[in-house]
Amino acid sequence: MSEITSFAPGRVEILGNHTDYNGGVVLSAALQIGITANARRLSDQKIQLSSDGIDGVENHCRKAVFARSGRWIDYPLGVATMLTKAGADPGGFAIHFQSTLPHGAGLSSSAALEVATAVALMRLYPFSLPPMDIARLCRQAENECVGVNCGLLDQASSVFGKKDHLVFLDCRNETVDTIPLPEHLGLLIINSGVKHALTGGEYNERREQCFEAARLMSVPALRDASLSQLDSTPMPELVKRRARHVVGENERVFEAVEALKQGTPEALGALMIASHRSSMEYFENSTPELDLLVSLVTKEPGCFGARLSGGGFGGAIVALVENDKAEIIQSKVVKEYNIRSGATATAILSEASDGAIPA
Ligand code: GLA
Repeated sequence: MSEITSFAPGRVEILGNHTDYNGGVVLSAALQIGITANARRLSDQKIQLSSDGIDGVENHCRKAVFARSGRWIDYPLGVATMLTKAGADPGGFAIHFQSTLPHGAGLSSSAALEVATAVALMRLYPFSLPPMDIARLCRQAENECVGVNCGLLDQASSVFGKKDHLVFLDCRNETVDTIPLPEHLGLLIINSGVKHALTGGEYNERREQCFEAARLMSVPALRDASLSQLDSTPMPELVKRRARHVVGENERVFEAVEALKQGTPEALGALMIASHRSSMEYFENSTPELDLLVSLVTKEPGCFGARLSGGGFGGAIVALVENDKAEIIQSKVVKEYNIRSGATATAILSEASDGAIPA
């Protein structure tokens, strides 16, 4: 069989911060940029992996037991391992990857690498999995093989994105809906230039604090808690603040879905600003650079709102902007930010785009 190609986009989280592993709801969008996998079959269970920008070819064997290396190959090898575990048994393969996603910007290059691999192998070999199973399996590869305890957001967004739509993901039911984004609105993503490393301990620490809050309120997950329940349950002040962020985010996502249905992007923008404030005050996953970007961009006419996107602790912000003002907003904010922070921001104006397996 000749070469086949798959493409999996990066994602931007619009609202619903750290809700995914708490059984909650998230709004996201798939981006135009992502990872392309060019794959072909190999005999004898051989695996060859290579990537633009990285020297050499990595040689492996389908039969070998997965051993974490701490390198990029853990993602595709992890996906192949999970496929075998799920009973889909691709044979040998060679994949060459090309990426247009900046690494470490919080735009889910990891999920894109996983999803691009899974979809390439599905096209290369005769097995078929429902799209949500692909997302789940890629998440499992990241949890078990890479060792990052992420939720389903990144992989589901990369699979289910839809052009000009936001993805509404319910992480408890593992269902996806898509909601149209008004035509005149765009997503301006500005990378703070400050490295984002999800393998750092902060993400897992926040996760544990959320689980602790749910346990103290005797609910299965923070998705099941209300703000009044949180107020009336005694718990350490720090744990309460973490939970307040997540409970508030779930509420904001539901409000945002209504706002979009009513055609009031101003309301969605205000919810994004409230989300960022909550990150600063309660979840403490922002950085001075992200705060500066949000404060600069939200001053600009044509910007409805902005917030940090993804895990936090660095990476990028996302702003909801009028398309015809995006260029000017972008250049003003980047210039001012670079002067004031000493860091170098990069901006991406993206439409909401199709995922790897568009509906
Ligand atoms: C990262 C994780 C996601 C999600 C976000 C925060 O992107 O990979 O699963 O938890 O952080 O919402």
